[in-house]
Amino acid sequence: MSSADIAVRVYRELEPEDFRVLSAIELEMSRHRYVPMSDLVKVCRLPEKEVKYRLSRLDEFGLIYRWVGFYVGYSLNMAGYDCLAINALVKAGVLEAFGKPLGVGKESDVYDALTPSGERVAVKMHRLGRTSFRQTRRLRDYVGNRRHVSWLYQSRLAAEKEFEALKIIYPCGVAVPKPVSQNRHVVVMGIIEGEELSRVVDLPEPERVLDEILLNVRKAYSDAGVIHADLSEFNVIIKPDFHILIIDWPQYVRLDHPNADYYLRRDLKNILQFFKRKFRVRRDLEDVFRYVKGR
Ligand SMILES: Nc1ncnc2c1ncn2[C@@H]1O[C@H](COP(=O)(O)OP(=O)(O)O)[C@@H](O)[C@H]1O
Ligand SMILES: [Mg+2]
Repeated sequence: MSSADIAVRVYRELEPEDFRVLSAIELEMSRHRYVPMSDLVKVCRLPEKEVKYRLSRLDEFGLIYRWVGFYVGYSLNMAGYDCLAINALVKAGVLEAFGKPLGVGKESDVYDALTPSGERVAVKMHRLGRTSFRQTRRLRDYVGNRRHVSWLYQSRLAAEKEFEALKIIYPCGVAVPKPVSQNRHVVVMGIIEGEELSRVVDLPEPERVLDEILLNVRKAYSDAGVIHADLSEFNVIIKPDFHILIIDWPQYVRLDHPNADYYLRRDLKNILQFFKRKFRVRRDLEDVFRYVKGR
């Protein structure tokens, strides 16, 4: 069971006092790796006995981690952080109910959900900071060279960046999911149906699909001033009508980024290589690069 599965199952059972203790741990985690009980009592302004009771409940639900060292301390785990974000989105009238998981990635869990007005949305919970080379690289782009950066902060930053990107790009008519809302490490967006390009076995008219991808990269570049910077066959969705969507934008860069051309060229290279390998469609990288830049 993923953290998201745990969160989606238990958040309804949580009482206001549970959330108060969870929020207090979140707040104090900016100062401690493991938050001492005494701090929680102060921040929550609940009797110690009550805090202890809430901590044991949260522990049982699998939402916090209890560390025993030279003192006893607590930290949120991902499911606990998920619950805080879900609760905030429910309270804000953004979400009403959860459905099934749509995708479990290395850097996210994506869930199907409903808004109070009955609209279906996708809920993407960012997961960063579990160590991998790719994440470390992504991370350096986000935060420069700060040494200790918690998974909490990294995941929130990724969600903020992705939501920001969608808000810039979507109104320009680029084929991306519609941004709906964001809280902490969670982005709510329009739900899309389709399959990752990497998994599509039979693609009629690959030339046309490639043109459509390039047109959208160009639109994002010239109308929104945005470069995806992690574009590949894994972040292109082929809809049932064989039109495309480009997803997964947290690492986007602006045109004035010092390495903008490098990222754009890399994005295009990934896509062109995929189409060459899989569909024998050939394009010249430099031609395409000039096309996207509007020259
Ligand atoms: N808006 C959405 N609607 C439906 N499914 C989605 C949506 N966004 C992502 N997904 C699913 O979740 C998977 C991972 O999403 P992605 O944004 O690429 O995150 P990651 O950073 O984990 O790669 C996608 O391949 C897709 O299957
Ligand atoms: Mg992806």
